[in-house]
Amino acid sequence: MTNSDTKATLSFSDGSPSLELPIYKGTIGPDVIDIRKLYGSTGKFTYDPGFMSTAACNSSITYIDGDKGELLYRGYPIEQLAVNCDFLETCYLLLNGELPNQGQKEKFVKTVTNHTMVHEQMQFFFRGFRRDAHPMSVLVGTVGALSSFYHDSLDITDQHHREVSAIRLIAKLPTLVAMTYKYSIGQPFVYPRNDLSYSANFMRMMFSNPCEDYKVNDVLVRALDRILILHADHEQNASTSTVRLAGSSGANPFACIAAGIACLWGPAHGGANEAALQMLEDIQKEGGVERIGEFIAKVKDKNSGVKLMGFGHRVYKNYDPRAKLMRETCYEVLNELGLHDDPLFKLAMALEKIALEDDYFVSRKLYPNVDFYSGIVQRALGIPVALFTGIFAMARTVGWIAQWNEMISDPEQKIGRPRQLFVGSPKREVPPMAKRG
Ligand code: CMC
Repeated sequence: MTNSDTKATLSFSDGSPSLELPIYKGTIGPDVIDIRKLYGSTGKFTYDPGFMSTAACNSSITYIDGDKGELLYRGYPIEQLAVNCDFLETCYLLLNGELPNQGQKEKFVKTVTNHTMVHEQMQFFFRGFRRDAHPMSVLVGTVGALSSFYHDSLDITDQHHREVSAIRLIAKLPTLVAMTYKYSIGQPFVYPRNDLSYSANFMRMMFSNPCEDYKVNDVLVRALDRILILHADHEQNASTSTVRLAGSSGANPFACIAAGIACLWGPAHGGANEAALQMLEDIQKEGGVERIGEFIAKVKDKNSGVKLMGFGHRVYKNYDPRAKLMRETCYEVLNELGLHDDPLFKLAMALEKIALEDDYFVSRKLYPNVDFYSGIVQRALGIPVALFTGIFAMARTVGWIAQWNEMISDPEQKIGRPRQLFVGSPKREVPPMAKRG
């Protein structure tokens, strides 16, 4: 970041001295006003719930231009990465800043592949869960539990330890997600096979069993790989900020990623794909395309509490570029499986068309986000609805760990400690029991 020639001046109407604040420029995107000296100089905090105007860090990993609907990983547009690269190349890029050449790619794939198995004792953690536990609760627990197995890579001040932990997390998440699924349906866990690609191996761990092997379908594997690429990072979203905040205290990377998974679980974040598919299924049950008008009217009624799930985004005020790619993948997968007439896909497209013409959505710049179509693709791949957010977690692990590593390496890094505007009771005396109301 560089200093701007422009400075901001903060003045007060009560005659307190004004304060000059430096402004920094990034490579692209909005400039930032440095308010770090504000409290020391004025005794005042800033107030910004939800971080509407606050940059909590500097980062060189992912850039989003919400107005243009642009998403760049290390400068490369998501549209190009989704078409020209696979997920592990994308991981290498996010972690290292550059795309790998052939030799680097082969070495990286080999390293990740060597770490796909989890410690055999991990299965006992799974067996402690109810079979009907939500997969995200199992993942929060088991990913956090990885900290107890890999003591040799927990020194966060050691760059090599951080790299090993990053590889372990990327390699083991598919294994844990697949084990979560197998446990939920009462089938034996399937060990990873290292002669398969990252995504093909995951599909096999999900869908093969000791009696029947899984035949890899390239179109479906490619679709899963695309889902992973599209969800790999998204700059300082809620779960990534959670990972950074957890990591700012020096917590180990497995614990930090478990915190990120917990945050991702919520329906306003990673849980939205599950919620979007549920919404489509509900409309379909109630009459399908015919009932869209009625549903849209409910969404527009503020008292109904109903939202059009898979629509709207804090940053994108234009079509989410990931949603376009996901819609394309949706076509490919449904065609491959002979499901061209899939009623939910038709319903989603009709809903999208109507919403994009409706003034409520147009005036609020509400467009489809990645989750609008990803549920339909995942369902077609055979992934159960409850596991959708687990797939998101598997994809986002690389983004979380790249952002965590960037934070740990940043000399400006401090423990995260937001301040508050206190609106509770001022100091008072504890009354004796007899005098309490
Ligand atoms: N359906 C109906 N109205 C909406 C929706 C929606 N999906 N999203 C926003 N609005 C309205 C909202 O009620 C508000 O209206 P008004 O100005 O009249 O009060 C206006 O649009 C602005 O919304 P906001 O809630 O202030 O926007 P936000 O930036 O705080 O929320 C959001 C962003 C993603 C939480 C929200 O759009 C939402 O809940 N969408 C549905 C859930 C969803 O699809 N989430 C996935 C996000 S993408 C995946 C990811 O990156 O994690």
